[in-house]
Amino acid sequence: MTFLIHTYGCQMNVRDSDLLARRLRAAGFAEAATEDEADVVLVNSCSVREKAEEKAIGKLGMLCAARRDRPGLVVGLTGCMANRLGPDVFGLVPGLSFSVGPRAAGPAVVSLVRRALDGAKGMFVPDPDGHTVERSNGHTVEQPDRPTVGPCDRVTAKDDTAVSSFVTILYGCNQRCSYCIVPSVRGSEESRDPRAIVAEVREEAARGAKDVCLLGQSVMRYGRMGFAWPEDIPSPMGFAEPLPRLLEFVAREVPEVRRLRFTSGHPSGVTDELVRAMREIPAVCPHLHLPMQSGSDRILRDMRRGYDSARYLAAVRRLREGVPDIAITTDIIVGYPGETEEDFEATRALMRKARFDNSFIFKFSPRPGTPAAQMEDDVPAAEKERRNQVLLADQDDLGVANNALWIGREVEVLAEGPSLRNAARWSGRSGQNKIVIFDPPPGIERGDLIRVEIGRANPQTLFGEPRGAIGRNRLLHVPVPLVGSHNLC
Ligand code: 5AD
Ligand code: SF4
Repeated sequence: MTFLIHTYGCQMNVRDSDLLARRLRAAGFAEAATEDEADVVLVNSCSVREKAEEKAIGKLGMLCAARRDRPGLVVGLTGCMANRLGPDVFGLVPGLSFSVGPRAAGPAVVSLVRRALDGAKGMFVPDPDGHTVERSNGHTVEQPDRPTVGPCDRVTAKDDTAVSSFVTILYGCNQRCSYCIVPSVRGSEESRDPRAIVAEVREEAARGAKDVCLLGQSVMRYGRMGFAWPEDIPSPMGFAEPLPRLLEFVAREVPEVRRLRFTSGHPSGVTDELVRAMREIPAVCPHLHLPMQSGSDRILRDMRRGYDSARYLAAVRRLREGVPDIAITTDIIVGYPGETEEDFEATRALMRKARFDNSFIFKFSPRPGTPAAQMEDDVPAAEKERRNQVLLADQDDLGVANNALWIGREVEVLAEGPSLRNAARWSGRSGQNKIVIFDPPPGIERGDLIRVEIGRANPQTLFGEPRGAIGRNRLLHVPVPLVGSHNLC
């Protein structure tokens, strides 16, 4: 029996898909190369924008229609849409085998797939703190198992390895930004125990991961709610805050992981301790994704972001002063309700001041049940598109200027494999998370760390020549297919 998982959305979904794949492999299922060959297709979905949901529904509809020729095909939904839609999804996608919330999916997936292969349809498993149980609409509603450590903890199939890997450290989100669906689909904040995190990072390292990114919707809230750092885990570096302590603990316990990252950030979490952790713990990469969303104080207030443009910029300056060569990337929403030309110009101005290394621009999409969806979505689609294009061009200018500073310098690159555009060259990433293209030296393998001298650059990419090896890591990497990826909220 074979399976295929389509993954939409953010890194947390990529991680969840990876863990679901391991569960299925451990239960004897093999990964199919194409959808046509798969007996089981799972769609791991995202609710953050309407387009992402439309894509997933379209995909599920096509799969269920394919049943006319392949009656045994199992089609399952997981991810944020499973929680958002509840059993209503079976009305939208008739014939769907099952729908399971992202945290319930780990413990439930194998039994759901087996029952579906026996012909069961319309099974729904909400997340433990799901909000959808009461809307059962006549469908089977299963009692979810309460996940203790992670969605798929302690699964040790040995057949997938990755140069880079993700580990979730914080579930859910309490921030309640006005536009964001996440708190209602991923529940409230829950920090994982540092020992469970270390165990999982160690497992990733054993599989060959050299670069591990610690994930949370609002990762700097790690350990801030309903959590006490275990007394028996000291901080030799003298940190008191949970996230710096966790970074120190993971770096110390799992030295095979050469690169440690965390995402996504928030200016309120850019404390002196965090800056020191980023500067002084060698494994922690000089890169932070720090969503700005807008540069207009009025819009930021409306969005309930908890900072204004001055506080955002102060966090950026603290990072640039405290962490040499740091790269800062961001998310920006254009066309938020009521966004005027003046608000938009304030966003452009703050982008210039922050000198982002990369920006992900999103057009506002009203999400059901969020405060922003109550407001009139009054910026016309064409104007949202124009603002989007203006910011992309602004970011290109910033990218050219930032990347030019790397020309003539050596960077440490984690080799990922042949470049997609030109298989004769290889691609990898610097600690700043910049893509670096280089001529592969003889004998290079995925996961090697090498030094590359940068000779030229464009807004998104650095190009250079290898100058020497740093370390070796032998890997065979089959990445989880990723459709329409973006950063955590
Ligand atoms: N509309 C558009 N973009 C959104 N994002 C979150 N919610 C919405 C929405 N309703 C963006 C934010 C976030 C990123 C992951 O997606 O910029 O940081
Ligand atoms: Fe869910 Fe948000 Fe991730 Fe989309 S981006 S998958 S909505 S947590």
